[in-house]
Amino acid sequence: MVAKIIDGKAIAAKLRAKIALTINRNSGPPPKLAVILVGNDPASKLYVSNKHIACQEVGIMTEDYCLASSSSEQKVYALINQLNHAADIHGILLQLPLPPQLNCAKLLEAINPLKDVDGFHSSNLGKLALNQAQLFPCTPRGVMLILAHIKQIFTGKHAVIIGASNIVGKPMALELLTAGCTVTICHKFTQDLAKHVARADILISAVGKPGLIKGRWIKPGATVIDVGITMSPTGKMLGDVEFNSAIAHAQWLTPVPGGVGPMTVAVLLQNTVTAQLLQSQASARYPS
Ligand code: GUN
Repeated sequence: MVAKIIDGKAIAAKLRAKIALTINRNSGPPPKLAVILVGNDPASKLYVSNKHIACQEVGIMTEDYCLASSSSEQKVYALINQLNHAADIHGILLQLPLPPQLNCAKLLEAINPLKDVDGFHSSNLGKLALNQAQLFPCTPRGVMLILAHIKQIFTGKHAVIIGASNIVGKPMALELLTAGCTVTICHKFTQDLAKHVARADILISAVGKPGLIKGRWIKPGATVIDVGITMSPTGKMLGDVEFNSAIAHAQWLTPVPGGVGPMTVAVLLQNTVTAQLLQSQASARYPS
């Protein structure tokens, strides 16, 4: 078997074109996204710059708030509060990771759930668990759109997720469960990872350890989605899956780069458009 390589760039480009059309058709002001970047992490700077380029392409306005890495929690909290109350800001993105003095969970929870374009607020994650989400965690939703694109069948399939983070692993499990899969989540205490991987019809790896998943472990014909992104010392982007050996086992395989990454950004744009709509509906319901 030779795996078909999934072109995440092309799927994301189609989604961006649709989003641009929606924004163009709307009569009101364009959506506006505020991006908060604390510190100088080079990977975060690159991600933020990619998000800006994508926003510009579809007609979403952006505003940057770059804070020193020594910033206090109070300072970041005050900025979030200010953006929560700014009527012209529709989405707030707090780029992660944060410097160690900042409590990430507390700051994410301070974002108005209607402006939470990352879908990380407990209210939005709770809605995802209840199958009532409107603002979705971007990477898991991006993976679901990729799987829909390849016409993946979910019901009765065994999905195995490697990594149990709040950002990817846990919401990914909820998405796949809702879609009809039997779901296993593996994490740092899981024993015999190879055994779990071998049982996966759909394998999602989101760890950030290059080469963690050996191609020979993969069930013949599986769909393999590599969410891992690690920058090598030479600046090469590396996934979790041993790509060259996985090709001989999987039926479908995402590359790194050019797989899930562009979809994450496209879903962020989609969430920003949705957030604007949710806020205009809320202000029509509760006029000030
Ligand atoms: N850092 C890495 N991925 C993400 C993401 O999807 N959202 C935010 N806010 N920070 C990140």
